[in-house]
Amino acid sequence: MLRGALKLATSRSLCNSFLRPLLSPHSSSTFSRFSSSSSPPSQNLAGNFVEHAAEDASSQNCSPTSTISIDRSGLYNPPEHSHGPSSDSKLVKHLKSIIKFRGGPISVAEYMEEVLTNPKAGFYINRDVFGAEGDFITSPEVSQMFGEMVGIWAMCLWEQMGRPNKVNLVELGPGRGTLMADLLRGASKFKNFTELLHIHLVECSPILKELQHRNLKCVDEDYNSPNNEKRTISTIGGTPVSWHATLEQVPSGVPTIIIAHEFYDALPVHQFQRASVGWREKMIDVAEDSTFRFVLSSTPTPASVFLAKRCKWAAKEEIDELNQIEVSPRAMELTESICKRIGSDGGGALIIDYGLDGVVSDSLQAIRKHKFVHILSEPGTADLSAYVDFASIRHSAQEASGENISVHGPITQSQFLGSLGINFRVETLLENCTTDEQAELLQAGYWRLVGEGEAPFWEGPKDKVPIGMGTRYLAMAIVNKNQGTPIPFQ
Ligand SMILES: C[S@@+](CC[C@H](N)C(=O)[O-])C[C@H]1O[C@@H](n2cnc3c(N)ncnc32)[C@H](O)[C@@H]1O
Repeated sequence: MLRGALKLATSRSLCNSFLRPLLSPHSSSTFSRFSSSSSPPSQNLAGNFVEHAAEDASSQNCSPTSTISIDRSGLYNPPEHSHGPSSDSKLVKHLKSIIKFRGGPISVAEYMEEVLTNPKAGFYINRDVFGAEGDFITSPEVSQMFGEMVGIWAMCLWEQMGRPNKVNLVELGPGRGTLMADLLRGASKFKNFTELLHIHLVECSPILKELQHRNLKCVDEDYNSPNNEKRTISTIGGTPVSWHATLEQVPSGVPTIIIAHEFYDALPVHQFQRASVGWREKMIDVAEDSTFRFVLSSTPTPASVFLAKRCKWAAKEEIDELNQIEVSPRAMELTESICKRIGSDGGGALIIDYGLDGVVSDSLQAIRKHKFVHILSEPGTADLSAYVDFASIRHSAQEASGENISVHGPITQSQFLGSLGINFRVETLLENCTTDEQAELLQAGYWRLVGEGEAPFWEGPKDKVPIGMGTRYLAMAIVNKNQGTPIPFQ
């Protein structure tokens, strides 16, 4: 059933020789952030909007005007001396106090950032949110094969880089550290690769850092340095591991491979809505009854500059069709940082996420315990994520880096994994299964990763469409041009 020719495939030997035939499929009966049957819910909150009468009728397009202000009329002002009992969580209180002291509503991007990464009460900060017991599941948690395939990609890029004798392998937002652990386990036979790596994990969550430390089987060693620092080694690959709050903090001057799996979708987005007077930003305010509500800014906001930039990169017809647009200045900035780093140090970046190769309209979604919930419901208890605008990443990269960077893709996750040989890998693993249950779990994980109609090797019954993340998740590579075209983006 899993046989089949891979049109773009690297050879069976490439895949299987890179990987030990270990078998520990991560079991999963939970749902990814896009359940197989549902598109992300259009939040369709237009009914909740308060559209303030705007004097500035100048902008039907998305060019920012020189005047930037927020209409504060009609906003809720909490009573000065309210001592009534409040069941608001810490984060809700914090959000309300920002709105109160700012004297006006906050952008969806600011709300999203606080909800996800507020250092005290953000969604990611104090808990493990992954898997059946958590809120959602991601590809590395579905099957070990995901991290193994990303490992093959990284080793191929290293070859293309001319096998430098030092490489910074950076992962942005590593979650539980599962992808990196599977990557190292899969590559551990290739000591000449693993021994030259220094792993840098960019993570904001203290609890997830601990999990990453544990899952990478790290030990802390005294280090013979002038300051008697400790250094951390992953015993899976014998590889040093360091943690950082941002990509900028990762030491530079060494060829670098960057992996960003489901990281961009957690970056804050601004949401704009077409109004009678032009594009206006959706903001979040506190209503009379003390709940959060959406309002529309009556004049252009600072983020309108990024909307204008995004619109400039799109065809007029693409914009004309939309009544809502999301833009992520943070995604643009991150792409610029990635390009700067690999432009100067060599190497490349792999971005895998769900998204579109075009302007994203209204995709922001909240997921709690594997179910979609309202974005404004109990902030901090649900994940917030938005479709990644891959076209915007491409344009940001091209704008940032001029001549020495090339951008490849996006291609579907199914094409990416298929071309790297996942079907050969699953066959090898199946041969090592000792029980039917193991084999079923492995196959289910495989279909979750590559399925959804366009899997290149679907040989199952015609009336059954494979279900999974294969086409909704896209892969894009940004590389230093000296590296040529990365596998499998030829
Ligand atoms: C959706 S999870 C993806 C986890 C992992 N890549 C996976 O696929 O399982 C997002 C990850 O990024 C981290 N994260 C989110 N925003 C961040 C930020 N601004 N800075 C650093 N880490 C962040 C989260 O703590 C989490 O580890």
